[in-house]
Amino acid sequence: MPELLRVGVLVSGGGSNLQALVEACRTGAIQAQIAIVVSNEPSAFALTRARQSGIATAVFDHRTFASSDAFEARIRAELERHRVGLVCLAGFLRILSPRFVDAFPGRIMNIHPALLPAFGGKGMYGERVHRAVLASGARVSGCTVHFVTAVPDAGPIIAQAVVPVDDDETPHALAAKIGTEERRLYPLAVDLFAQGRLRVEGNRVRVLPPLGSGLIAETR
Ligand code: GRF
Repeated sequence: MPELLRVGVLVSGGGSNLQALVEACRTGAIQAQIAIVVSNEPSAFALTRARQSGIATAVFDHRTFASSDAFEARIRAELERHRVGLVCLAGFLRILSPRFVDAFPGRIMNIHPALLPAFGGKGMYGERVHRAVLASGARVSGCTVHFVTAVPDAGPIIAQAVVPVDDDETPHALAAKIGTEERRLYPLAVDLFAQGRLRVEGNRVRVLPPLGSGLIAETR
């Protein structure tokens, strides 16, 4: 049997998305295993979740490094040491440099709590995203799983889920609704990757049919 895809998850906070990925790997919904969880925040609850699930963890506090290059080099070495085939950003609050992104070509995913390409980019994280959505008057929001490129939140979109924005919605309530969708969507996207069913074509992602679906050869 081929070895399961080894996933490295980068976190900074609560880790509810990490938990969803852990559960999906445990139940076999994703044919993959979480090999390492890396945090830049020593107090991130995500680390507790990982440890409780018996997953290896590493903490590299960015404030203790002389440069962001040195910080990233350490994370990269850790991911390589664990022979990671996919890196999942799950609430990781550091923007990764082009050099880091290039080290894992087409192998870094992120989840964002809005419908990209709207409400993304530098400074758009956490409650700020939901406040901006509410201020815009948009009737829907949601979440996006995408491949990471050198431009924050601009990489090819893999999957999206939509939630309605109700009248009198609060940022908190919107975040909760979107969180539920995130925990459903991220495992699905990782599973598609693990099955080798994601093909990037320019800025679009094609989802290939499952193996054994009867498709013998693809014609164009
Ligand atoms: C999620 O809303 C995700 O979209 C964003 O950061 C948040 C992480 O939440 N990138 P959690 O730490 O997974 O609970």
